[in-house]
Amino acid sequence: MNILRYVYRFWPVELLLLLCVGFQVVSGLGLVMKKGFVRQPWYVVAQVLSGLYLSFFLIYHVQAVLRGRFQWKMNTGFYFAAGVANHYPEKLFFIPYYTLSLVAVFTHIAAVHYLKRMEQWQLKPEDHLKRRYKNETIGICIAGGLVTFLIMISLCGVLYAI
Ligand code: HEM
Repeated sequence: MNILRYVYRFWPVELLLLLCVGFQVVSGLGLVMKKGFVRQPWYVVAQVLSGLYLSFFLIYHVQAVLRGRFQWKMNTGFYFAAGVANHYPEKLFFIPYYTLSLVAVFTHIAAVHYLKRMEQWQLKPEDHLKRRYKNETIGICIAGGLVTFLIMISLCGVLYAI
């Protein structure tokens, strides 16, 4: 983080990053309103639900980080996040909150991957292709589960004392 902060905290880079976050939230919510998710295939429902959670998370998370830095003058590093994930009763909220954010990122990616693959499959509907596309999607979910598990056990002090 100490090294990467020189990059993502360089004000033009940070401004661009925050604008991207804002655009992602606004365009995502716009798509949900336009498309809806009632009576849609499961992967569209998964995409919409994970996107809605990410919108909530990004707004809450970024404002907490910015307030921590500018209003409370804190070092918003690893321990800023780990503090609330280790302290009772805050952890009852923050452990599921962080876990779901990571699950939502991978669900969102897996769902859009499957959606795009299904569009390709309709042009060439062969059984072995459908199996391959399903396996790719399951692969993204398994990798996501593993990454989520590793990040969360490190954040929650399972690997070392915090
Ligand atoms: C376990 C999950 C997560 C933890 C512990 C975490 C922790 C943090 C911390 C400590 C910062 C402050 C960085 C700094 O001050 O240098 C931060 C900033 C940020 N995080 Fe997360 N985060 C998590 C998940 C996510 C996810 C899933 C996203 C996006 C989908 C995200 C997007 C951001 C953004 C946009 C910033 C602001 C960066 C900036 O202002 O330059 N975070 N996060």
